[in-house]
Amino acid sequence: MSHPKTAEEMMAAAGPIEKNLSLSLLQITEAAAVAAAGEVGRGDRKYADHVAVEAMRRVLNFIDIKGTVKIGEGERDEAPMLYIGEAVGTGNGPEVEIAVDPLEGTNLAAEDMNGSIAVMSMAEKGGIFYGPDIYFDKIVVGPKVVLYEKTNPGGEKIDIDAPVSQNLEIVSKALGKGIEDLVVVILDRDRHKEKVAAIRAAGARVRLIPDGDLLPGVLTCFDDSGTDMVMGAGGSGEAVLTASALKGLGGRITGRLVLPSVANKKPPEAVSKELAEQLPRLEKMGIPENEIDKIRETDDLVPGKDVIFAATAVTDTPFMKGTKLLDSDACMTGILIGSSGVVRVVQSRYVKDKETKPFSF
Ligand code: FBP
Repeated sequence: MSHPKTAEEMMAAAGPIEKNLSLSLLQITEAAAVAAAGEVGRGDRKYADHVAVEAMRRVLNFIDIKGTVKIGEGERDEAPMLYIGEAVGTGNGPEVEIAVDPLEGTNLAAEDMNGSIAVMSMAEKGGIFYGPDIYFDKIVVGPKVVLYEKTNPGGEKIDIDAPVSQNLEIVSKALGKGIEDLVVVILDRDRHKEKVAAIRAAGARVRLIPDGDLLPGVLTCFDDSGTDMVMGAGGSGEAVLTASALKGLGGRITGRLVLPSVANKKPPEAVSKELAEQLPRLEKMGIPENEIDKIRETDDLVPGKDVIFAATAVTDTPFMKGTKLLDSDACMTGILIGSSGVVRVVQSRYVKDKETKPFSF
């Protein structure tokens, strides 16, 4: 029997960000989750997002990093905090780049539905895609599919431009499951009607979700998670955060940036208007018009070598309990993934009064 990977091997494989900043990252998502948890079920998605953003921003101020937001709440003129390009951290520490989504699934949190999380990733300078806040039309698959792509003699690979049935066949072979047993997660949007019909016509199952297509991408890497594949156009920030997690889990995201007006099949005037608004931003980010729709892979979205990803559940998710505010304590579950391949699911409790209130989960 080969011996399992040891802690020493893991420490040797981890870069300084993973070694020194993992817990801080988790604390930042915990702060956002606790703030958002107070607003769960109150029907005000904007306010729930606002308190999560503020909490994340405040806690970032404690962290000894010279950080720059690469994926954030929007452009400087539209987001007061955590805007793209904002400098965060104390300024004393390593130069890092961050991607944040303080509340992924704002509607889910506001309506007290499963699947909302506070999420963030971090990498060395140059390690996170500098891209616009539009959509990314994608396919996400787990490590078994990646291994199959590397080893099958026919060179079969998931291809965003291939027919849906062809991609499903590859996943079916890689996972050793019949197509009829595959579950594809996709956002319930009109723009996905044709894709949903094609998945069902090929014989696979579709799980339509109202919001929150980031975590399902991570779940493709977990055996028996019930999510074999994620498809469809969702936020580009969410795609970058998914890619950060996949770096540590061995999965793959492939797809292309797409303007929401194009994905949602808006009339040509609306497309021209959005393109005119976005082009100067895109060019500033080093993306000329003819490169908007080029195919981008996990390493294009997150080129970093020392990458960490943290998420804390706000409402319940498949493997994490939502944040509970119990009297004066907070109780939460998060996941921490490092590019060395360390994955931790962490339960935390912040005990306010340790003398009178013994710790328990
Ligand atoms: P918010 O957290 O900003 O509400 O985003 C939720 C979400 O469902 C994402 O998970 C998804 O990628 C994106 O919105 C899809 O955008 P749209 O609602 O425009 O289809």
